[in-house]
Amino acid sequence: MCGIVAYIGSKPARELLLEGLKRLEYRGYDSAGIAMLNGGLHVARTMGRVSGLEEMVIDDEAFNGTIGIAHTRWATHGEPSERNAHPQCDDGKKGHGIRIVHNGIIENYASLKTYLKERGHEFTSDTDTEVLAHLIGELYNGNLETAVQAALREVTGAYAIAVVCEEEPDVLVVARKGSPLIVGVGKDEYVVASDSSAIVAHTTQAFLLDDETVARLTRDSFRTTTVENVELTPEIQELEYSLEQIELGDFDHFMLKEIYEQPATLKTCMQGRVNAIDGNIVLGGVAEFAEQLSKAKRILLLGQGTALHAAMIGEYLFEGLAGIPTEVEFASEFRYRNPIVEEGTIAIAVSQSGETADTLAAVQEAKRRGAITLGAVNVVGSTISRDTDAGVYLRVGPEIGVASTKAFIGQVAVLTMLATYVGRRHHLGKELMTELLAALEAMPMHIEKVLGESDHILQITKGVVDRDNWLFLGRGTNYPVALEGALKLKEISYIHAEGMPAAEMKHGPIALIDKGMPVVIVATKGSQYEKVIGNMEEVRSRGGHIIAVATEGDTAIQKHCDDVIYVSDVPEPLQPLLSVIPLQLIAYHAAVLRGKDVDKPRNLAKSVTVE
Ligand code: G6P
Repeated sequence: MCGIVAYIGSKPARELLLEGLKRLEYRGYDSAGIAMLNGGLHVARTMGRVSGLEEMVIDDEAFNGTIGIAHTRWATHGEPSERNAHPQCDDGKKGHGIRIVHNGIIENYASLKTYLKERGHEFTSDTDTEVLAHLIGELYNGNLETAVQAALREVTGAYAIAVVCEEEPDVLVVARKGSPLIVGVGKDEYVVASDSSAIVAHTTQAFLLDDETVARLTRDSFRTTTVENVELTPEIQELEYSLEQIELGDFDHFMLKEIYEQPATLKTCMQGRVNAIDGNIVLGGVAEFAEQLSKAKRILLLGQGTALHAAMIGEYLFEGLAGIPTEVEFASEFRYRNPIVEEGTIAIAVSQSGETADTLAAVQEAKRRGAITLGAVNVVGSTISRDTDAGVYLRVGPEIGVASTKAFIGQVAVLTMLATYVGRRHHLGKELMTELLAALEAMPMHIEKVLGESDHILQITKGVVDRDNWLFLGRGTNYPVALEGALKLKEISYIHAEGMPAAEMKHGPIALIDKGMPVVIVATKGSQYEKVIGNMEEVRSRGGHIIAVATEGDTAIQKHCDDVIYVSDVPEPLQPLLSVIPLQLIAYHAAVLRGKDVDKPRNLAKSVTVE
């Protein structure tokens, strides 16, 4: 949600900032802006994409500076418009030429605005960010760092900010609370960004800012402090991402690239963890909680969006393989209920970004109520990964496509490993464990095979892509897969789709089925196969167009459906890792066929760091 990039050094900042913004554009893309100090303050802002901003500044000599801040926005306060775009400024008349880019929400902006108005400030935008800019301006007394610290002491809410001031043309101040910000450290230069994809092209040395920490950067020095001005010594680390991981390569879209990466990322996720020969799972990240995990009375899985669907699969796995009562909750609901967290509860936050505000708040709430908290998170060093007691990283590499794919596979794989890890300490016998792990190790190969069906899936999708309402059905562990298939289709092609348990269709949604309505049914071989066939007949007799995802060799299913996509025969608990792949491809092809912007779907953001 919103991308920030800032630079101070000796290179041309404009190119670096624009390139950084393009890499961060998946975080938000309804407006963009840049501010540069170059013998004065120069600002450009525009509605829409970074490419529009680039056109405005690329040939403008005023933007030939070596210090600047830039932003790509996903609107929270104030409609997307030029005046609400960042950078925002302090008061035009009595200001100090302060410009700020901000990610997050200043919760007490209304009271701060009233206070500032009383002191004569006039505002030109609807944003909370402008209020923060004015507050910094109001408190400015010749030292930007001190003014930012003082302003942040007055603020409640979340922020990642980068600030420059015309009166101090060689200083960049950045700060964060509850919203990520990374400082890349080069030779006599600093590149700051809300995620490392905008940094790795320039340096792989970086430090993560802690909550309520401010960094003052000049070309050859940095100083980090708390907002109370207590000096800190951050630890400089090597960033793990390589440039190749964040480049499109030969693919048309990041989503497609990431779908195709899944065999490899699943392998990396399991490497050194799954040992089929010994029938053993090694999870170093949670080793110190092994005993609590095996004695767990209840597992609580928390997430939003795709991560929630992975968590729902986790519920089947923990109950089925480990015999532990498990609940899944929308993190956004859990945090505002009065949840009962019994002793012996392990709460697991499932999240790609590790920054989703609701998931973070929910897992903090579970912790307050006595749960041990674990993270199943992708981004190393993210807030959830740092706030939980322990965790297992997904290790799927950076996910750029807004529609999550490889992270889903990573989340399901991590939950499968956790469930078998705990199950083995309960009643999961060695034989079944070995069988499951062997199948898990072979899964990348099976995924590869489904990917080979992409053209066939494209042809199937072509046949129904003009239809505006779809259903996705599944049972057992394939029910959350149906939810995920519907979500993927909605997100990127704007086709209305609903996912549900196949049996639930009879209780209302069946009324929607008319001739040719696409109904995607996951009908792989398993304990509920016959029942799913029954549901297919219910759809067929009402004229629905059935696309079945079925198990290789099941030729009998062809008479029940219009199209069939085969996947390998794998044990039932592992089927979601495979049955979701055709649904990802259907969504992708549908979006491309409809001419939609696959990687930047309207209204969405990759990481939602506000409630
Ligand atoms: C946003 C994204 C989804 C994602 C969800 C949870 O809505 O668009 O793709 O599933 O947030 O994100 P997380 O980073 O916590 O997995």
